[in-house]
Amino acid sequence: MTLADGYRLISTDASRARDVLHVTSFAFAFTVPQKDADFITRVYPFGAGRAVEVADASRGTIGTLAAAHTSFRFRLAVPGGHSLATSGLSWVSVHPGHRRRGLLTAMIADHFANSRARGEAISALYASETQIYQRFGYGLAARTAMIELSRGAKLRDSAGADELIVEIDSASYERHASVLQEVQSAMTRPGSIVDFEEVTVAEAFLDIEADRDGADELRIVIVRDGDSPLAWALLNRKANWDLHSPDGKVQVRAWGSAAPHATARLMRVLVDFDLMSKTALSRIALDDETLHLLVDPRGARASIEDNLWVRILDVASALEGRGYAADCDVTVAIQDTQLPDNAGTWRISVTGGEATVTRTDDDADLAMSIQELGAAYLGGTSIATLTRAGLVREHRDGAASELSRAMLSDLAPACNIGF
Ligand SMILES: CC(C)(COP(=O)(O)OP(=O)(O)OC[C@H]1O[C@@H](n2cnc3c(N)ncnc32)[C@H](O)[C@@H]1OP(=O)(O)O)[C@@H](O)C(=O)NCCC(=O)NCCS
Repeated sequence: MTLADGYRLISTDASRARDVLHVTSFAFAFTVPQKDADFITRVYPFGAGRAVEVADASRGTIGTLAAAHTSFRFRLAVPGGHSLATSGLSWVSVHPGHRRRGLLTAMIADHFANSRARGEAISALYASETQIYQRFGYGLAARTAMIELSRGAKLRDSAGADELIVEIDSASYERHASVLQEVQSAMTRPGSIVDFEEVTVAEAFLDIEADRDGADELRIVIVRDGDSPLAWALLNRKANWDLHSPDGKVQVRAWGSAAPHATARLMRVLVDFDLMSKTALSRIALDDETLHLLVDPRGARASIEDNLWVRILDVASALEGRGYAADCDVTVAIQDTQLPDNAGTWRISVTGGEATVTRTDDDADLAMSIQELGAAYLGGTSIATLTRAGLVREHRDGAASELSRAMLSDLAPACNIGF
């Protein structure tokens, strides 16, 4: 779709920080005190910033921003122990005075073109509203749990957990971003961000006083094996007193772990802060060891949320860029109205865990839209399930289970870092 008359697409570097903050604060309904306004320069990757600028007085003041977005560029862990260059779409904002004129649609086309030009075969995002991005081919690739643990919630023993070292400190982007880098780079769960520019984690360290709502400053818990960090959590604690006793809450802002025994040790620390009666955590993979180690899993009051949405930008590179759990030889007709060079029939041949993906004139065994391929990509949503739901159509008996078994991942996908 072309951009509506009276607007133009531009790149935004840091010199447009105030304008970007203006349009994003209108779109997301937040206001920051003037003294904190420069936070945007720390958390927004201006290297990939794009915006829609008013170009005609009939649309508003010429030169003001009507819409903006940016992309975090990182490598995402994908099934089979591989990782893939990924474009993390974020900060998507259309000023309320310019909505429903196709500005988002034009920005998505621009985002796809720029991501592909950088060699990124997939795009991923967190959705503010789940209905927005499906029309652009993003599929729900990972779901995660939010839990609330009571003080002292019991966890079963995990071999080696007691030997690990725990450090609790005030959180500092300058001192601790490298800890996150080190832990994340060792993570193999599909959906984990394993290699990233530091700006990707800057928001997790943001600690604007006006946002604390009475909680203490941001703290970090690091679990180490000797000098090597294995797990981390960023958290705030908010004290509260009921009539007779302390009733504070630990809010874990973000956490990550590269080893199950480090997760167990981290969780034991998170449920054992004095004066706190509960601990809230999110972005927990649906098969995370925490949910199995809890003696009272029902007590965790788990609820499910959508986590990562994935859009395949380049079918052959994306499918050849991940590993597979079983051999298969399947032809798949893909429908993609926004990126027509993904559309058509592809042969997916897997041997020894690696795929060769080529165009074919043969009849298709399966047919699906690019959204379904994105949903299945990280190995957490099965092709068999999508077939049962009528979203994948099977033209050859057995083809759906063949591709389904090949694409499944041993570990459920989850992304633990917001972007
Ligand atoms: C969501 C948002 C970006 C949409 O921008 P927009 O420029 O109005 O979108 P478009 O005009 O390109 O709309 C494209 C289509 O998506 C639909 N759509 C857009 N936002 C939608 C929403 N929130 N829910 C359902 N449908 C939506 C439109 O109706 C339109 O459908 P149509 O093509 O059938 O007419 C904008 O409303 C916004 O900035 N919202 C607040 C911030 C936000 O939620 N950002 C997303 C962050 S993940």
